[in-house]
Amino acid sequence: MIDRPRRLRQTPALRSLVAETRLHPRELVLPVFVAEGANEPRPIASMPGVVQHSIGSLQELSRRAVGAGIGGLMLFGVPEHKDATGSGAVDPDGILNVALGTVRDVVGDDLVVMADTCLDEFTDHGHCGVLDARGRVDNDATNEIYAAMAVAQARAGAHVVGPSGMMDGQVGVIREGLDAAGLEDTVILAYAAKYASAFFGPFREAVQSSLQGDRRTYQQDSANIVESLREIDLDIAQGADLVMVKPAMSYLDVVAAAADRSTVPVAAYQVSGEYSMITAAAANGWIDRKAAALESLVSIRRAGAQVVLTYFALEVSDWLG
Ligand code: PBG
Repeated sequence: MIDRPRRLRQTPALRSLVAETRLHPRELVLPVFVAEGANEPRPIASMPGVVQHSIGSLQELSRRAVGAGIGGLMLFGVPEHKDATGSGAVDPDGILNVALGTVRDVVGDDLVVMADTCLDEFTDHGHCGVLDARGRVDNDATNEIYAAMAVAQARAGAHVVGPSGMMDGQVGVIREGLDAAGLEDTVILAYAAKYASAFFGPFREAVQSSLQGDRRTYQQDSANIVESLREIDLDIAQGADLVMVKPAMSYLDVVAAAADRSTVPVAAYQVSGEYSMITAAAANGWIDRKAAALESLVSIRRAGAQVVLTYFALEVSDWLG
């Protein structure tokens, strides 16, 4: 026998030498929740190990993230008061904008500060946009608010805005709004292919979402991949600097296709449900938490994602040493 593939698997050193994919903390972005009015971190029951931060604990976390050498933080705000138009999102004193300023003051340019540019945390109906007279999500009116929101986020300190609402044309309108405000250096990470997913379940608790119903008129059907390629092309044409696929693990074919097609870097988001499944199974002693987390992340990188958003980011940095 000439071909003995096992030869290269004999020792850890040999296996590492020929590893085709490596994880590095610099490629990982930690999603972070910040709650208005919180005096200390509040646990999120459906995501053990993840909390809603106070401004104080956010400063501490930001210092830890710099020390850990991860790539960045993606911030989500949890406001005390919500209204029909999500006005807290564009208010410079709104919780997300205050949090962005807090983080940026701590980290400077040492890591990348990202903002979720979406209204669902701020609206009392829980939808990602404003509603028209018939109660439908109004695409174009929502885009105008996204543009104002992105400007507020960039002014607050975000290096990157992340439109995640899946409105048509959102990237173009945000780019125009940023440029008109003299913010042409602000990066847009477009959630290009975002699916209406059951794996967002724990996130809804994390941001105390008030959503009734679902997001199926704007987020994509999990049956489709060609549609994702179209979304990616549109977002790149409108000025996206990075494109993202979300969730990750059930959509690795989409990640691979995106990596193949995209002329900008591709990111993938290992979402709340993916984190919670691994965490819950590990808590029951059914799988090894560290091994499963690392395997899932290597798989997302292998599929073609250059950047991975993951709630495991800080732990991975510890694990990798
Ligand atoms: C929308 C948004 C969601 C997530 C990130 N951005 C929720 C949704 O679309 O319902 C989910 C992230 C996760 O599940 O970890 N602002």
